[in-house]
Amino acid sequence: MDATAAAKLLDHYQATARDLPWRRGERDPYRTWLSEVMLQQTTVATVTPRFRRFLERWPTVEALAAAKDEDILGEWAGLGYYARARNLIACARAVAERGSFPETESELRKLPGLGAYTAAAVAAIAFGEDAVPVDTNVERVVARVFGLANRADVPAAAKAWFPTGRHGDFAQALMDLGASLCRPKKPECGRCPLEADCRAAALGKPEAFPAPKVKKERPHRHGVAWWIRRGDEVWLVRRPAEGLLGGMAALPGGEWDEAPAMVNALAIHRHGFTHFTLDLHVVPRVEPPPGEGWWQPLGELDRAGLPTLYRRAVEAALKSEREPRLAD
Ligand code: ADE
Ligand code: SF4
Repeated sequence: MDATAAAKLLDHYQATARDLPWRRGERDPYRTWLSEVMLQQTTVATVTPRFRRFLERWPTVEALAAAKDEDILGEWAGLGYYARARNLIACARAVAERGSFPETESELRKLPGLGAYTAAAVAAIAFGEDAVPVDTNVERVVARVFGLANRADVPAAAKAWFPTGRHGDFAQALMDLGASLCRPKKPECGRCPLEADCRAAALGKPEAFPAPKVKKERPHRHGVAWWIRRGDEVWLVRRPAEGLLGGMAALPGGEWDEAPAMVNALAIHRHGFTHFTLDLHVVPRVEPPPGEGWWQPLGELDRAGLPTLYRRAVEAALKSEREPRLAD
């Protein structure tokens, strides 16, 4: 690939870069790290206001490290993938403990929760190292430009193409291009600065690259969530620290397994996790089960820090209480 293609993309980025809060001001590893962790699996549109709130509440990694787990998990509510939030807490504390973020990809990689992508992104964007972060947008654009059907071939092609000394900007230029013109369906090659250099465009079938992933069937599970009311309050609990949605606020309930729940539910909420889908049967019950919990006023559900699964289940139960089904 000739170097002018990279230069064209950098010029295009300079002229069109999205004004995102983590791109403003001084390079700062805390902001870069926080934004990259939030942006894994969550869209820029969702992350932007949440990132601002997070930074207002905890402006430094030391402040975040000193915060209570439940405050951080509550602030994370709705962003999904709660293992990320627990790793975020562990990582903030490890960084505060050692005094600052390490400045190389290989040292960053040793921090809790920093995978290959995040370590490379922080090294390239915050520290100017020539690391090569490959997220799904970067992967798609590089696969198209080089005409690579096989995703496994992308990292080497990217490594050869990224211009020395500009890896942070170049990665973000690819991310922006992947989020705008070079989107998965119907890319706008006619407006793309890389059109003349792009193999997939030359072949007239940009959407064919990279080859689609083979989708695995997700198993389906069932679970019960107890719906326990006292006036305008509902009984909530905190999930155990380990496991899915660990440490998050929740409706009480048992294990999730593959047997359909034989219960008379007030509402059934279907939710997709990464590795399975869940039908959560929300079942009325009179007394709280043994164990700790609290009465949450229904008017203050926003403050409970419920993850989306339970938030939606509560909404479904409330709706069903308002509009009881007549026949069944
Ligand atoms: N997705 C992941 N990291 C990003 C970044 N730095 N800018 C825009 N989108 C991103
Ligand atoms: Fe993507 Fe089309 Fe640009 Fe190639 S020319 S990088 S396929 S938008």
